Amino acid sequence: MKNYRLAKISSVRIAAIALFVCIGVTGLFYPKAVSGTNGMETAEMSPTPRPRANRSKRPARYSQFQHDVKAHRMECGSCHKFPSANWQKVRTGSDAFPDITDYPRHESCLNCHKQQFFKGTPPKVCSICHTNPSPRDSSRHPFPNPREIFDQSPKGKKAESDFVVGFPHDKHIEIVSSHNKAAVRFELAAFSRSSERRLAEESCSVCHQTYKPQGDSKDEYLTAPPPKLGDAFWLKKGTFKTAPVGHTTCFTCHSAESGILPAPENCAACHQLKPAQPKADFDDKTAAAMKIDDKRMMDSWRRRDSSGKFQHEFVAHVDSSCSTCHNVLTINTADPLTKKVSISACAVCHATATSDDGGVLNFETDLRKANATFQCVKCHITFGKLPIPESHSAAIAAAGK
Ligand code: HEC
Ligand code: HEC
Ligand code: HEC
Ligand code: HEC
Ligand code: HEC
Ligand code: HEC
Ligand code: HEC
Ligand code: HEC
Ligand code: HEC
Repeated sequence: MKNYRLAKISSVRIAAIALFVCIGVTGLFYPKAVSGTNGMETAEMSPTPRPRANRSKRPARYSQFQHDVKAHRMECGSCHKFPSANWQKVRTGSDAFPDITDYPRHESCLNCHKQQFFKGTPPKVCSICHTNPSPRDSSRHPFPNPREIFDQSPKGKKAESDFVVGFPHDKHIEIVSSHNKAAVRFELAAFSRSSERRLAEESCSVCHQTYKPQGDSKDEYLTAPPPKLGDAFWLKKGTFKTAPVGHTTCFTCHSAESGILPAPENCAACHQLKPAQPKADFDDKTAAAMKIDDKRMMDSWRRRDSSGKFQHEFVAHVDSSCSTCHNVLTINTADPLTKKVSISACAVCHATATSDDGGVLNFETDLRKANATFQCVKCHITFGKLPIPESHSAAIAAAGK
């Protein structure tokens, strides 16, 4: 019972506290992070957004809107007026909540783009928002939010966000828990150690579930593999974990009613321009051959920069607690480098003193040393062709001690 404390949430109104009371279980599950050098530091959001890439001196492309154009970096609210007029039409009944669910209106652009709005028949710039632009047709593509609708549209299938989301896990994990799927709430209670762990992981599942799990199905592959697959790789169900794709969970707490800051109209408190992304352990051709056309899954796969093949639901992995491989206190979700899963998390089971002891990392390392063209395929899709990184040799050395 020693680590219990009430988390400090000074900015929260009394009413909200009555609903959401916090428990301090984090210290029990992430002891390393808590006692080590200040993990909070790294989890802090960087104050100034880093541009994704330098826009080269190419002619302007008026068919595609880009947030990182210098002149576009103004108050988000100068274009996105919260809430959109159609928020009760896009989601209905009890699913509806005030949100940005439509494009900015003409007046957001006209001050600077009169020329583009009147050039061409139809002008190129209209197609950013309209499906069939003309002076009499106002039909529009679905807005990128909610993604559930947008992803199904021709525009949504190809879209790539200009942003990443900075979600400070350290400020939430101890307070978010879920006891029924529809509601997110804080609870104050005494728990035994084992149920504490379950509770902490339950809090993760409010926002992260196994995506397309295999469950009880006999079919382990996502799509039909070729008949003679053998040991070759084919994507399995339950490989990925989901993450929120919209505001539904966040805005249950961050709403005008609760007063919990940041307020929903403060877009920039959560969204930051996407920094340069590291090389991923991913290959378009492999995914195309498997006919994976799920936007959500492809977005996750393209971001895998540790192990493109790691499967969360795999029998030998599924019982490990998330903190075995992810330290949410040092993750800054807006900075890809802080999200990397270290090989030392795998080494516990996959590295041994020698190859004879069964470690697949040793096995592949030995094969590579014997044959410089050997490709490591156990965990990797493309990285396995590259030179063996220092981290891998260090993990083997550590396993031998
Ligand atoms: C404060 C002035 C300003 C406002 C408001 C503004 N823009 Fe721009 N926009 C610019 C400038 C400046 C450029 C750069 C022009 C260039 O590169 O030739 C630009 C570039 C663009 C481009 C080309 C981007 C590229 O990558 O080549 C598009 C498309 C565009 N704007 C659309 C819009 C739309 C749609 C709106 C309204 C939602 C809007 N702009 C609002 C000033 C503005
Ligand atoms: C100059 C007008 C303008 C400003 C300022 C602006 N936006 Fe947008 N935003 C747009 C337009 C237009 C779209 C639709 C673009 C599209 O669908 O191609 C959009 C789309 C988006 C999207 C969905 C597409 C994506 O890239 O993920 C997000 C998220 C977003 N805006 C967030 C923000 C945030 C956060 C800010 C402030 C930091 C901001 N916007 C400032 C005009 C603007
Ligand atoms: C940044 C997104 C965006 C761009 C670019 C844009 N529109 Fe619109 N347009 C809208 C939205 C949002 C509405 C709905 C406004 C409302 O409901 O008040 C709209 C409404 C309209 C309407 C209905 C009548 C009206 O004015 O409200 C017409 C017609 C129209 N747009 C044509 C065009 C044409 C033609 C272009 C290109 C020259 C264009 N739009 C460019 C977002 C855009
Ligand atoms: C209230 C929602 C919420 C809860 C609860 C939550 N997360 Fe997250 N998590 C997020 C968001 C939002 C992101 C950023 C997603 C993105 O970048 O699109 C994220 C990102 C992550 C990532 C990085 C994924 C990547 O792209 O590499 C990991 C790992 C992660 N969370 C683990 C956890 C664990 C473990 C827990 C429980 C201790 C947890 N999260 C609880 C919302 C949540
Ligand atoms: C045995 C190690 C391990 C465990 C246990 C584990 N993960 Fe992961 N997780 C990974 C790896 C490896 C990746 C891929 C990272 C990359 O390549 O970018 C990943 C990726 C993720 C992602 C990003 C989406 C994806 O699937 O690529 C989220 C979110 C995530 N994990 C959440 C969780 C949560 C929540 C738990 C606990 C229920 C958990 N993980 C347990 C190793 C693990
Ligand atoms: C269960 C309620 C709850 C949910 C759900 C929730 N938050 Fe929060 N959030 C809070 C509280 C309470 C604070 C204030 C914490 C503090 O100041 O220590 C906060 C603070 C924040 C902050 C500001 C942190 C800072 O440094 O000041 C951000 C950013 C944030 N939340 C983003 C999100 C995002 C993104 C989501 C959805 C993925 C989300 N929150 C979901 C309750 C919640
Ligand atoms: C409390 C945090 C928070 C605030 C405030 C917030 N968002 Fe988001 N937003 C998120 C999260 C989390 C997601 C889902 C994860 C992701 O997109 O990476 C998201 C997703 C979106 C999407 C879906 C498409 C996409 O590419 O991500 C759009 C569009 C969007 N936000 C626009 C806005 C606009 C505009 C505002 C301001 C009016 C805003 N958001 C305010 C947290 C927030
Ligand atoms: C048990 C799974 C596993 C095996 C086996 C494995 N790796 Fe990795 N590899 C990882 C993980 C996890 C990471 C990301 C974290 C790290 O580098 O510690 C990674 C990262 C990498 C990277 C990227 C390093 C960087 O700095 O971005 C390369 C290159 C790589 N591995 C090559 C190899 C080669 C070559 C082999 C065969 C000798 C191999 N890997 C075997 C799990 C594995
Ligand atoms: C708790 C022990 C444990 C940890 C930690 C662990 N694994 Fe495994 N993993 C296993 C076992 C046992 C197997 C099954 C035997 C085998 O294939 O080597 C396995 C199998 C695999 C497979 C093949 C699965 C399949 O579908 O055939 C991959 C890929 C893999 N692990 C990657 C990883 C990566 C990457 C990490 C670190 C992020 C990791 N594992 C961490 C125990 C673990």
